[in-house]
Amino acid sequence: MLKKVYIETYGCQMNVADSEVVVSILSDSGYELTENIKEAGLILINTCSIRDNAEQRIWGRLKAISHLKKKNNDLKVGIIGCMAERLKEKLIETDQLVDIVVGPDSYRELPNLVTEAESGHKGVNVLLSREETYADISPVRMDKNGITSFVSIMRGCNNMCAYCVVPYVRGAERSRDRESVIKEARELFQKGYREVTLLGQNVDSYAWNNNEKILRFPELLEQVALIDPLLRVRFSTSHPKDISDELLYTIAGNKNICRHIHLPAQSGSSRILKLMNREYDREWYMDRINAIHRIIPDCSLSTDMITGFCTETEEDHKESLSLMDWTGFDFAYMFKYSERPGTKAARKLKDDVPESVKSSRLSEMIALQNRLSIKSKKNDIGMIFEVLIEGFSKRSVEYFSGRTTQNKVVVFPVGDYKKGDNVQVLIEKCTAATLIGRSVNVKVC
Ligand code: SAH
Ligand code: SF4
Ligand code: F3S
Repeated sequence: MLKKVYIETYGCQMNVADSEVVVSILSDSGYELTENIKEAGLILINTCSIRDNAEQRIWGRLKAISHLKKKNNDLKVGIIGCMAERLKEKLIETDQLVDIVVGPDSYRELPNLVTEAESGHKGVNVLLSREETYADISPVRMDKNGITSFVSIMRGCNNMCAYCVVPYVRGAERSRDRESVIKEARELFQKGYREVTLLGQNVDSYAWNNNEKILRFPELLEQVALIDPLLRVRFSTSHPKDISDELLYTIAGNKNICRHIHLPAQSGSSRILKLMNREYDREWYMDRINAIHRIIPDCSLSTDMITGFCTETEEDHKESLSLMDWTGFDFAYMFKYSERPGTKAARKLKDDVPESVKSSRLSEMIALQNRLSIKSKKNDIGMIFEVLIEGFSKRSVEYFSGRTTQNKVVVFPVGDYKKGDNVQVLIEKCTAATLIGRSVNVKVC
């Protein structure tokens, strides 16, 4: 009988893509994925260390899982991913529940480490690699819709943003070979997928040396877009210091590359950006936004912002708000600064903004973004957008849910359409998170 593995994923899209690689590796070794935690012989938790509260959630989950382990002596529990890398053996020492600890570059070792755990030893491997990209592994897709999927194009990060733990837990940046990226995207399309998101911590520094010349991100993106006009292509994440006009022209020149750029600003204050080691200032960021408007006029914009970074004053905070307002982001992820042990900020700077101030600045920022998001949606009312149907809306099977190329969620009556169709939808109204419309029979260019 096949052994059953249950996997829970936290953190970013990269971790979602990694879990699919992990399931693929385990299924080659006789494991079958289950969605029922109670019937699993192996429970894996793919973890995130980006902020302290991300790690606290995992400790909470481990506690909750402990009662399953009490009932079943043979059950093995593994912590994999970024927190495994950061805490290493400490995890096994501090929590008797954990049998296996595997970092993001050691997933090929998982079957052996599980065997090790089954024989009563702890299975630990947290070595980081300079080469591993899992290029040859076909991820087992765990998405529910069968329409949209992630394709990892690189791993690790070479930027040393002062606050960030990623370079320490994911290692040095490396790019995946062009052929395996194209092959994976093509196979997804052949299986019926209609959207791929190319993933990397800093996609603009993608570089693949094929002996003749170095292939950069704009070319890779275009090559994926050329697989089929019906395959939508997205990417994440761009870094403001590296996003080039060449990339913007590539997007503008290919209809199926989505009109949405996630460009994390982190702060609107040049002084804070310098302390964060982001390698751009407020003016540079604004110049990049202007370039996006000029080259791709219908492009939507989203961002990540951190409030309360070391030494942040009220004035710095106001500059973050004014940058958000000036840009008019369609969407934003906003976080309170959380000091991560071992990072440059933790070593060199004092986490001196009181928690209550971080919280009130965050609330103010969220309130502003809510206004901007509503404004962005209201602007869409009366316009027609092409929507790729991903499935039924959460509320009702009488409505489909999909996204525009600008990454905005749209719901509309089911009609004669089916999942995976591209439909022209006239937007009639909106809620805080969703555009609502009806299909119309016109072709927009
Ligand atoms: N590589 C991407 C983002 C990676 S992490 C980039 O450079 O943009 C996702 C987001 O988490 C970051 O953009 C940042 O806004 C936030 N983040 C990272 N470290 C953080 C920390 N220590 N405290 C609070 N937010 C953090
Ligand atoms: Fe972290 Fe900066 Fe790398 Fe993004 S670019 S993962 S924020 S170090
Ligand atoms: Fe978290 Fe690791 Fe992603 S720290 S944000 S899961 S790269």
